[in-house]
Amino acid sequence: MTLPETLAGCLLITGTPGAGKTTVSQLVAERLPRAARLDGDVFGMMLVSGWANMLDDEGRWNPGPEGLRQLQLRTENVCSTADNFARAGFTPVIDSVVETRSELGFILSRLETRPLLLVVLCPPLDVARHRNATRAPETRVGYDFAPLARNQQRELGDLGWWLDSGEQTPEQTAELIVAEAAQRAVVTDDAVDRLPRAGGYRPGFTAVDGEL
Ligand SMILES: Nc1ncnc2c1ncn2[C@@H]1O[C@H](COP(=O)(O)OP(=O)(O)O)[C@@H](O)[C@H]1O
Ligand SMILES: [Mg+2]
Repeated sequence: MTLPETLAGCLLITGTPGAGKTTVSQLVAERLPRAARLDGDVFGMMLVSGWANMLDDEGRWNPGPEGLRQLQLRTENVCSTADNFARAGFTPVIDSVVETRSELGFILSRLETRPLLLVVLCPPLDVARHRNATRAPETRVGYDFAPLARNQQRELGDLGWWLDSGEQTPEQTAELIVAEAAQRAVVTDDAVDRLPRAGGYRPGFTAVDGEL
């Protein structure tokens, strides 16, 4: 496989927990000559105090208004840092969960770097569950991410490159992304502005935009 010398723009690797974002984004960045990996979770953990609880009483992922504001702030910081790296000639490789079209629209509104290359890692849900259950305990999530997978499919299913890594090694997935993302993963601002195929935004960053 011939690898390009560099990758123009900003790469955003998303998917459910356990899909392989962190593993694959690291391997992708290692295969590019000048690249930085931006882990959304690390940006979230910069908050030392004042964390909003992102789970409800039943342990489901369910951020309230303050939780959404904090997720939006995290995304905003990721975008400005990605732009700083891009301006310095490094390809930003973002590792972050994006659930809704409005979140992606928010990213495009804050990120100046173009093109945005969106890769949605989508191994079968059982594979993601197994990967989540067998990785280092401190990186496991305890909530059911089936609803998140459904939302991503509904909201983002027609955008970017949906890559089923279920039967690949992380290295195979990373090499494929480096080789083909420029052709397969470009997301235009126009495409995000169109409604998702099955209609209807879930409340997301749109609900809190402008309140920061
Ligand atoms: N093809 C693959 N792609 C990515 N991760 C894989 C793959 N096969 C097995 N794994 C394992 O699955 C786990 C994925 O975890 P991680 O990369 O942290 O996911 P995420 O960041 O999406 O939550 C890791 O332990 C990784 O070694
Ligand atoms: Mg991760």
